[in-house]
Amino acid sequence: MNQNETSAVPPLQVQSVVKRFHQGENVIAALDGIDLTVQAGELVAIMGASGSGKSTLLHAMTGLTEIDSGTVRVDGEDLSQFSDYELTRFRGRKIGLVFQSFNLIPTLTAEDNIRLPATETSGLEARVGTLLERLGMTARRLHKPDALSGGEQQRIAIARALVTDPAIVLADEPTGSLDSVSGQEICRLLRELSSEQRRTIVIVTHEPHVAMWADRVVVLKDGKNLSEFCPSGNYDPQEIANRYQSELNAAGVPA
Ligand SMILES: Nc1ncnc2c1ncn2[C@@H]1O[C@H](COP(=O)(O)OP(=O)(O)OP(=O)(O)O)[C@@H](O)[C@H]1O
Ligand SMILES: [Mg+2]
Repeated sequence: MNQNETSAVPPLQVQSVVKRFHQGENVIAALDGIDLTVQAGELVAIMGASGSGKSTLLHAMTGLTEIDSGTVRVDGEDLSQFSDYELTRFRGRKIGLVFQSFNLIPTLTAEDNIRLPATETSGLEARVGTLLERLGMTARRLHKPDALSGGEQQRIAIARALVTDPAIVLADEPTGSLDSVSGQEICRLLRELSSEQRRTIVIVTHEPHVAMWADRVVVLKDGKNLSEFCPSGNYDPQEIANRYQSELNAAGVPA
Protein backbone atom coordinates (compact mmCIF):
# COMPACT_ATOMS: atom_id res chain seq x y z
CA MET A 1 0.00 0.00 0.00
CA ASN A 2 1.48 3.38 -0.90
CA GLN A 3 1.40 6.48 1.29
CA ASN A 4 -1.65 8.00 -0.45
CA GLU A 5 -3.74 4.87 -0.06
CA THR A 6 -2.78 4.64 3.62
CA SER A 7 -3.76 8.23 4.36
CA ALA A 8 -7.10 7.80 2.51
CA VAL A 9 -8.36 5.35 5.15
CA PRO A 10 -10.09 7.30 7.93
CA PRO A 11 -8.67 6.36 11.33
CA LEU A 12 -12.19 6.11 12.76
CA GLN A 13 -15.31 5.06 10.93
CA VAL A 14 -18.57 4.27 12.71
CA GLN A 15 -21.45 3.20 10.46
CA SER A 16 -25.08 2.63 11.49
CA VAL A 17 -24.05 1.43 14.94
CA VAL A 18 -26.77 0.15 17.25
CA LYS A 19 -26.17 -0.76 20.90
CA ARG A 20 -29.05 -1.82 23.12
CA PHE A 21 -28.92 -2.46 26.86
CA HIS A 22 -31.45 -4.86 28.35
CA GLN A 23 -32.64 -4.28 31.89
CA GLY A 24 -35.42 -6.63 32.87
CA GLU A 25 -38.23 -5.92 30.43
CA ASN A 26 -36.75 -2.59 29.36
CA VAL A 27 -34.57 -2.18 26.32
CA ILE A 28 -32.52 1.01 26.06
CA ALA A 29 -31.13 1.86 22.64
CA ALA A 30 -28.03 3.72 23.85
CA LEU A 31 -26.86 3.96 20.22
CA ASP A 32 -29.56 3.91 17.59
CA GLY A 33 -27.91 4.05 14.16
CA ILE A 34 -24.92 6.33 14.79
CA ASP A 35 -22.54 7.38 12.00
CA LEU A 36 -19.23 9.12 12.59
CA THR A 37 -16.08 9.35 10.49
CA VAL A 38 -13.01 11.12 11.86
CA GLN A 39 -9.96 11.91 9.73
CA ALA A 40 -6.31 12.03 10.74
CA GLY A 41 -5.47 15.38 12.28
CA GLU A 42 -9.11 16.10 13.07
CA LEU A 43 -10.33 17.04 16.55
CA VAL A 44 -14.00 16.26 17.01
CA ALA A 45 -16.09 17.21 20.06
CA ILE A 46 -19.19 15.18 20.87
CA MET A 47 -21.92 16.98 22.77
CA GLY A 48 -25.38 15.91 23.85
CA ALA A 49 -27.55 15.66 26.93
CA SER A 50 -26.74 13.21 29.72
CA GLY A 51 -27.80 9.74 28.54
CA SER A 52 -27.60 10.61 24.83
CA GLY A 53 -25.04 7.85 24.21
CA LYS A 54 -21.72 9.72 24.21
CA SER A 55 -19.76 7.35 26.48
CA THR A 56 -21.33 4.30 24.84
CA LEU A 57 -20.14 5.61 21.46
CA LEU A 58 -16.56 6.11 22.71
CA HIS A 59 -16.50 2.62 24.21
CA ALA A 60 -17.93 1.15 21.00
CA MET A 61 -15.12 2.85 19.04
CA THR A 62 -12.55 0.95 21.13
CA GLY A 63 -14.37 -2.37 20.96
CA LEU A 64 -14.78 -2.30 24.76
CA THR A 65 -18.53 -2.37 24.22
CA GLU A 66 -19.85 -5.02 21.87
CA ILE A 67 -22.34 -3.55 19.40
CA ASP A 68 -25.58 -5.16 18.19
CA SER A 69 -25.30 -4.06 14.57
CA GLY A 70 -23.38 -1.72 12.31
CA THR A 71 -19.63 -1.46 11.86
CA VAL A 72 -16.75 0.17 13.69
CA ARG A 73 -13.53 0.44 11.68
CA VAL A 74 -10.29 1.65 13.19
CA ASP A 75 -7.61 2.33 10.59
CA GLY A 76 -9.80 0.42 8.15
CA GLU A 77 -9.98 -2.70 10.36
CA ASP A 78 -13.46 -3.95 11.28
CA LEU A 79 -13.25 -4.50 15.06
CA SER A 80 -15.81 -7.33 14.96
CA GLN A 81 -13.31 -9.52 13.11
CA PHE A 82 -10.82 -9.61 15.97
CA SER A 83 -10.67 -12.17 18.77
CA ASP A 84 -10.63 -10.66 22.29
CA TYR A 85 -6.86 -11.10 22.44
CA GLU A 86 -6.29 -9.49 19.04
CA LEU A 87 -8.64 -6.66 19.89
CA THR A 88 -6.83 -5.91 23.16
CA ARG A 89 -3.49 -5.77 21.35
CA PHE A 90 -4.86 -3.72 18.47
CA ARG A 91 -6.51 -1.25 20.86
CA GLY A 92 -3.31 -0.94 22.87
CA ARG A 93 -1.32 -0.07 19.75
CA LYS A 94 -3.76 2.40 18.23
CA ILE A 95 -5.93 4.04 20.86
CA GLY A 96 -5.47 6.05 24.03
CA LEU A 97 -8.71 6.19 26.01
CA VAL A 98 -9.52 8.55 28.88
CA PHE A 99 -12.45 7.08 30.82
CA GLN A 100 -15.12 9.33 32.30
CA SER A 101 -14.51 7.60 35.64
CA PHE A 102 -10.65 7.62 35.27
CA ASN A 103 -10.26 3.86 36.07
CA LEU A 104 -6.91 4.31 37.84
CA ILE A 105 -5.41 1.33 39.69
CA PRO A 106 -5.68 2.27 43.40
CA THR A 107 -2.61 0.29 44.51
CA LEU A 108 -0.25 1.94 42.02
CA THR A 109 1.38 5.35 42.25
CA ALA A 110 0.47 8.07 39.78
CA GLU A 111 3.55 7.43 37.66
CA ASP A 112 3.05 3.66 37.68
CA ASN A 113 -0.53 4.19 36.54
CA ILE A 114 0.80 6.27 33.64
CA ARG A 115 3.36 3.60 32.70
CA LEU A 116 0.81 0.78 32.78
CA PRO A 117 -0.27 0.62 29.09
CA ALA A 118 3.27 1.05 27.74
CA THR A 119 4.82 -2.04 26.18
CA GLU A 120 7.74 -0.13 24.68
CA THR A 121 10.30 0.67 27.40
CA SER A 122 12.66 2.63 25.18
CA GLY A 123 12.16 6.33 25.90
CA LEU A 124 9.38 5.53 28.37
CA GLU A 125 10.84 7.35 31.37
CA ALA A 126 11.35 10.49 29.30
CA ARG A 127 7.76 10.35 28.03
CA VAL A 128 6.37 9.82 31.55
CA GLY A 129 8.50 12.74 32.82
CA THR A 130 7.38 15.04 30.00
CA LEU A 131 3.70 14.22 30.52
CA LEU A 132 3.94 14.71 34.30
CA GLU A 133 5.60 18.06 33.71
CA ARG A 134 3.16 19.19 31.02
CA LEU A 135 0.18 18.25 33.18
CA GLY A 136 1.65 19.88 36.29
CA MET A 137 1.81 16.57 38.15
CA THR A 138 5.56 16.06 38.74
CA ALA A 139 5.31 16.78 42.49
CA ARG A 140 2.45 14.28 42.84
CA ARG A 141 4.02 11.43 40.85
CA LEU A 142 4.51 9.10 43.82
CA HIS A 143 1.02 9.57 45.25
CA LYS A 144 -1.56 6.83 44.95
CA PRO A 145 -4.95 7.77 43.48
CA ASP A 146 -6.73 8.08 46.85
CA ALA A 147 -4.20 10.74 47.84
CA LEU A 148 -4.95 12.77 44.71
CA SER A 149 -7.77 15.23 44.10
CA GLY A 150 -10.33 14.47 41.38
CA GLY A 151 -8.64 16.87 38.99
CA GLU A 152 -5.22 15.36 39.71
CA GLN A 153 -6.57 11.85 39.08
CA GLN A 154 -8.04 13.10 35.82
CA ARG A 155 -4.67 14.46 34.69
CA ILE A 156 -3.02 11.10 35.47
CA ALA A 157 -5.72 9.32 33.45
CA ILE A 158 -4.96 11.66 30.53
CA ALA A 159 -1.19 11.04 30.82
CA ARG A 160 -1.86 7.28 30.84
CA ALA A 161 -3.85 7.59 27.60
CA LEU A 162 -1.04 9.54 25.92
CA VAL A 163 2.00 7.58 27.12
CA THR A 164 1.93 5.12 24.21
CA ASP A 165 1.84 8.00 21.70
CA PRO A 166 -1.41 6.67 20.21
CA ALA A 167 -2.60 7.74 16.74
CA ILE A 168 -6.15 7.99 18.12
CA VAL A 169 -7.13 9.59 21.43
CA LEU A 170 -10.66 9.22 22.78
CA ALA A 171 -11.38 11.31 25.86
CA ASP A 172 -14.61 11.18 27.84
CA GLU A 173 -15.17 14.56 29.54
CA PRO A 174 -11.40 14.92 30.13
CA THR A 175 -11.77 18.30 31.83
CA GLY A 176 -14.89 17.53 33.89
CA SER A 177 -13.00 17.65 37.21
CA LEU A 178 -10.52 20.38 36.34
CA ASP A 179 -10.34 24.10 37.09
CA SER A 180 -10.53 26.26 33.98
CA VAL A 181 -6.75 26.88 33.72
CA SER A 182 -5.87 23.16 33.87
CA GLY A 183 -8.80 22.38 31.57
CA GLN A 184 -7.57 24.81 28.93
CA GLU A 185 -4.04 23.36 29.20
CA ILE A 186 -5.44 19.89 28.44
CA CYS A 187 -7.35 21.29 25.46
CA ARG A 188 -4.21 23.01 24.17
CA LEU A 189 -2.29 19.74 24.49
CA LEU A 190 -4.96 17.75 22.60
CA ARG A 191 -5.20 20.48 19.95
CA GLU A 192 -1.41 20.33 19.43
CA LEU A 193 -1.52 16.55 19.10
CA SER A 194 -4.07 16.86 16.33
CA SER A 195 -2.74 19.93 14.49
CA GLU A 196 0.98 19.25 14.75
CA GLN A 197 1.13 15.46 14.90
CA ARG A 198 -2.03 14.63 12.89
CA ARG A 199 -3.47 12.54 15.71
CA THR A 200 -7.16 11.76 15.58
CA ILE A 201 -8.90 13.11 18.67
CA VAL A 202 -12.46 12.71 19.89
CA ILE A 203 -13.51 14.56 23.05
CA VAL A 204 -16.86 14.10 24.74
CA THR A 205 -17.79 17.27 26.56
CA HIS A 206 -20.63 19.34 27.98
CA GLU A 207 -18.46 22.45 28.04
CA PRO A 208 -18.41 25.10 25.27
CA HIS A 209 -14.92 26.09 26.58
CA VAL A 210 -13.73 22.64 25.48
CA ALA A 211 -15.78 22.20 22.31
CA MET A 212 -14.48 25.56 20.99
CA TRP A 213 -11.11 23.85 20.34
CA ALA A 214 -12.67 21.34 17.95
CA ASP A 215 -12.70 21.32 14.15
CA ARG A 216 -16.20 19.86 14.27
CA VAL A 217 -18.88 19.45 16.95
CA VAL A 218 -21.15 16.41 16.63
CA VAL A 219 -24.40 16.59 18.59
CA LEU A 220 -26.13 13.39 19.73
CA LYS A 221 -29.68 12.92 20.93
CA ASP A 222 -31.22 9.65 22.12
CA GLY A 223 -28.42 7.59 20.55
CA LYS A 224 -28.76 9.26 17.14
CA ASN A 225 -26.83 11.93 15.24
CA LEU A 226 -28.85 15.11 15.77
CA SER A 227 -26.60 17.49 13.81
CA GLU A 228 -23.10 18.83 13.56
CA PHE A 229 -21.36 22.17 13.05
CA CYS A 230 -17.88 23.59 12.65
CA PRO A 231 -16.70 26.22 15.16
CA SER A 232 -15.40 29.41 13.55
CA GLY A 233 -11.97 28.93 15.13
CA ASN A 234 -12.30 32.14 17.14
CA TYR A 235 -12.18 30.16 20.41
CA ASP A 236 -15.38 31.78 21.59
CA PRO A 237 -17.32 29.65 24.10
CA GLN A 238 -20.41 31.83 23.72
CA GLU A 239 -20.48 31.08 20.00
CA ILE A 240 -20.40 27.33 20.73
CA ALA A 241 -23.11 27.60 23.42
CA ASN A 242 -25.33 29.54 20.97
CA ARG A 243 -24.72 27.13 18.07
CA TYR A 244 -25.35 24.10 20.27
CA GLN A 245 -28.58 25.59 21.61
CA SER A 246 -29.77 26.51 18.13
CA GLU A 247 -29.13 22.94 16.89
CA LEU A 248 -31.26 21.67 19.79
CA ASN A 249 -33.95 24.30 19.11
CA ALA A 250 -34.04 23.41 15.41
CA ALA A 251 -34.69 19.79 16.40
CA GLY A 252 -37.45 20.86 18.76
CA VAL A 253 -35.60 19.88 21.95
CA PRO A 254 -36.96 21.90 24.90
CA ALA A 255 -34.40 24.37 26.35
N1 LIG B 1 -24.29 -0.88 31.24
C1 LIG B 1 -25.48 -0.32 30.99
N2 LIG B 1 -26.63 -0.98 31.28
C2 LIG B 1 -27.84 -0.42 31.01
N3 LIG B 1 -27.98 0.81 30.47
C3 LIG B 1 -26.88 1.50 30.17
C4 LIG B 1 -25.56 0.98 30.42
N4 LIG B 1 -24.65 1.91 30.02
C5 LIG B 1 -25.37 2.96 29.54
N5 LIG B 1 -26.69 2.71 29.63
C6 LIG B 1 -27.78 3.62 29.21
O1 LIG B 1 -27.53 4.02 27.88
C7 LIG B 1 -27.82 5.39 27.70
C8 LIG B 1 -26.58 6.12 27.20
O2 LIG B 1 -25.59 6.12 28.24
P1 LIG B 1 -24.21 6.86 28.10
O3 LIG B 1 -23.41 6.53 29.31
O4 LIG B 1 -23.62 6.55 26.78
O5 LIG B 1 -24.66 8.39 28.11
P2 LIG B 1 -23.79 9.72 28.09
O6 LIG B 1 -24.27 10.52 26.93
O7 LIG B 1 -22.36 9.39 28.16
O8 LIG B 1 -24.27 10.47 29.43
P3 LIG B 1 -23.44 11.38 30.50
O9 LIG B 1 -23.36 12.75 29.86
O10 LIG B 1 -24.34 11.39 31.71
O11 LIG B 1 -22.11 10.76 30.75
C9 LIG B 1 -28.34 5.90 29.03
O12 LIG B 1 -29.73 5.87 28.99
C10 LIG B 1 -27.79 4.89 30.02
O13 LIG B 1 -28.64 4.79 31.13
MG1 LIG C 1 -20.91 9.68 29.62
